[in-house]
Amino acid sequence: MVKNYPKVSEEYLKAVDKAKRKLRGLIAEKNCAPLMLRLAWHSAGTYDQCTKTGGPFGTMRFQAEQAHGANNGVDIAIRLLAPIKEQFPTISYADFYQLAGVVAVEITGGPDVPFHAGRPDNPEPPVEGRLPAATGGSDHLRDVFTKQMGLNDQDIVALSGAHTLGRCHKERSGFEGPWTANPLIFDNSYFKELLKGDTEGLLQLPSDKALLSDPSFRPLVEKYAADEDAFFADYAEAHLKLSELGFAEA
Ligand code: HEM
Repeated sequence: MVKNYPKVSEEYLKAVDKAKRKLRGLIAEKNCAPLMLRLAWHSAGTYDQCTKTGGPFGTMRFQAEQAHGANNGVDIAIRLLAPIKEQFPTISYADFYQLAGVVAVEITGGPDVPFHAGRPDNPEPPVEGRLPAATGGSDHLRDVFTKQMGLNDQDIVALSGAHTLGRCHKERSGFEGPWTANPLIFDNSYFKELLKGDTEGLLQLPSDKALLSDPSFRPLVEKYAADEDAFFADYAEAHLKLSELGFAEA
């Protein structure tokens, strides 16, 4: 898809650059990179290519969307971000939440994900039920990521590698525990753990395990476990696509 990015002013770009610095500070201080990445992903992952609704357009600012079952805990990210967002009233919520996701990956040692500004804020949240279920298999992942969002198999596996960061919280999702031994470092350990199988103290969701049993997903898991550079390159490409679903389409 050729992107036709909107022109934003010099002042807007300066504000984005300054906000990026503030976000680095906040995320380092609060160790909240995983939650910020989850916020950016849950904001974008509601995109539906058939109806051209949902997606990374700032609607997570609405309590109604924060209250969707899949978003348990995302309100904490919104609250942490509020004092910085107030300092940058010209930046859209849409850009701000995606910027937080890009900074979360950068500051934990992950790849640089390109960022283009200019997303508008939509006035209405999407309908509930568009994010993937942790109990789903590969068919479910393709229903959500491919049929609904328009992403491909490589994007699904690379993006799943974001679970190298963070953990599940019983009170938020019903699951408990991290995927890796170093949940504040963005590396390829998610894929190494996936191939190793169950390890005490670590967790794999059914949707993570689905990557192992699918003949198209599994070779990518093996590739990313063996080659972190390949993971970083494909992750950056997939994260960029995710963050721009429905944005600047030519
Ligand atoms: C493939 C389908 C996916 C499913 C079913 C899924 C499911 C989940 C679940 C159940 C949690 C635990 C939430 C909690 O209890 O706090 C979680 C956390 C997380 N997810 Fe996913 N996820 C998926 C894909 C993604 C993608 C594509 C990204 C980012 C690109 C992502 C980033 C994260 C992060 C960073 C956390 C940790 C949050 C924290 O530590 O607070 N996930 N995910």
